[in-house]
Amino acid sequence: MPFRNRYTGLIDRYRDRLPVSDDTRIISLGEGNTPLIRLHNIPKLLGKQVDIYVKYEGLNPTGSFKDRGMTMAVTKAVEEGSKAIICASTGNTSAAAAAYAARAGITAFVLIPDGKIAMGKLAQAMMYGAITLQIKGNFDDGMRLVKEVAGEAPVTIVNSVNPYRLQGQKTAAFEIIEELGRAPDYHCLPVGNAGNITAHWIGYCEYSSASGEHVTEACAYCNGKCAYAGGAIVGNRPKMVGYQAAGSAPFLRGHMVDHPETIATAIRIGHPQSWDRAWNVMEESGGWFAEVTDAEILAAQKMLTQYEGVFCEPASAASLAGAIKDIQSGKIPEGSSLVLTLTGNGLKDPDTAIAQCQGKATLLTIDATLDQVKRAILDNMR
Ligand code: F0G
Repeated sequence: MPFRNRYTGLIDRYRDRLPVSDDTRIISLGEGNTPLIRLHNIPKLLGKQVDIYVKYEGLNPTGSFKDRGMTMAVTKAVEEGSKAIICASTGNTSAAAAAYAARAGITAFVLIPDGKIAMGKLAQAMMYGAITLQIKGNFDDGMRLVKEVAGEAPVTIVNSVNPYRLQGQKTAAFEIIEELGRAPDYHCLPVGNAGNITAHWIGYCEYSSASGEHVTEACAYCNGKCAYAGGAIVGNRPKMVGYQAAGSAPFLRGHMVDHPETIATAIRIGHPQSWDRAWNVMEESGGWFAEVTDAEILAAQKMLTQYEGVFCEPASAASLAGAIKDIQSGKIPEGSSLVLTLTGNGLKDPDTAIAQCQGKATLLTIDATLDQVKRAILDNMR
């Protein structure tokens, strides 16, 4: 007898809204169904009446939202007979590709910028057994090479230019609507390649529309076939707000950036692949792009861990850093509800975390004596 109540991943859960059939062999690690945590302390600190939720995507099987897209991309690659997948990555896509390839029994090739990915992500790609190619170039160089080689070698690209990736990632929006009962007023995300913000918008549009015609230009991938690509909008949709790191902010500059830099290596991208689609999302949703500095990103990351007990990686904290600025300026008015996507787990990048805390009062080195432990306790009670 099967265990009927077991959660078996997002393809199974949203089967009717995804491009799979009853015969499809699903490659899953139980991704999705991540917690939506209401922030209690940060709104108080800001002194503003705002209802903020974080969607903690760092609790996916490989520690980032990429698993949502990868379960779909690898499922379809296997269905179509592919024996190998390839991606360029700032780290999280490569970790997810490597894991799902291992699960499927196929080969993963990953191109990563040499020395510019967080340690946890490198460990993942290697442990899951991906052939890991460290290139002397950045993500954008890797992306170009992957697109070129896919024309000449038998490999399936699993970057978000693969249409199935966004189909998987749109399910995060479904989960949010189901949990809140409606869409939030604002949905804030960090933006790199701009696939995820596009995928969320597809999800919100599909969910909020009844039957009829296609509702969103951003949803070019489903060719008007997605179950919810309908005419009349019956639910609300959020304004989508995309935050970029100031040194890697092509959407703010209005053009591609050749030498992107930021401590948030996950979003160190100057040539986003979903450029047009992301602009469409902004136009359709009434949202905007804004930029945050590395210092603001790190401060927001620390705030989340210390005041809410939620540990995300630096890139993810860009969504809180940006939201704080927009709340404080009044651009996001009081009375609003917000969902912030925390795209990746803080454990991915221990080096940046430890560097932030080094030399701080919370890290004490003491003798192994009762006296010193007792003193540390009495001196440090909150
Ligand atoms: N946050 C994290 C933690 C990411 O890893 C990424 C992208 C983003 C945000 C931006 O999402 O590209 O859809 O706009 N990481 C990719 C990677 C590029 O290779 O792991 P996006």
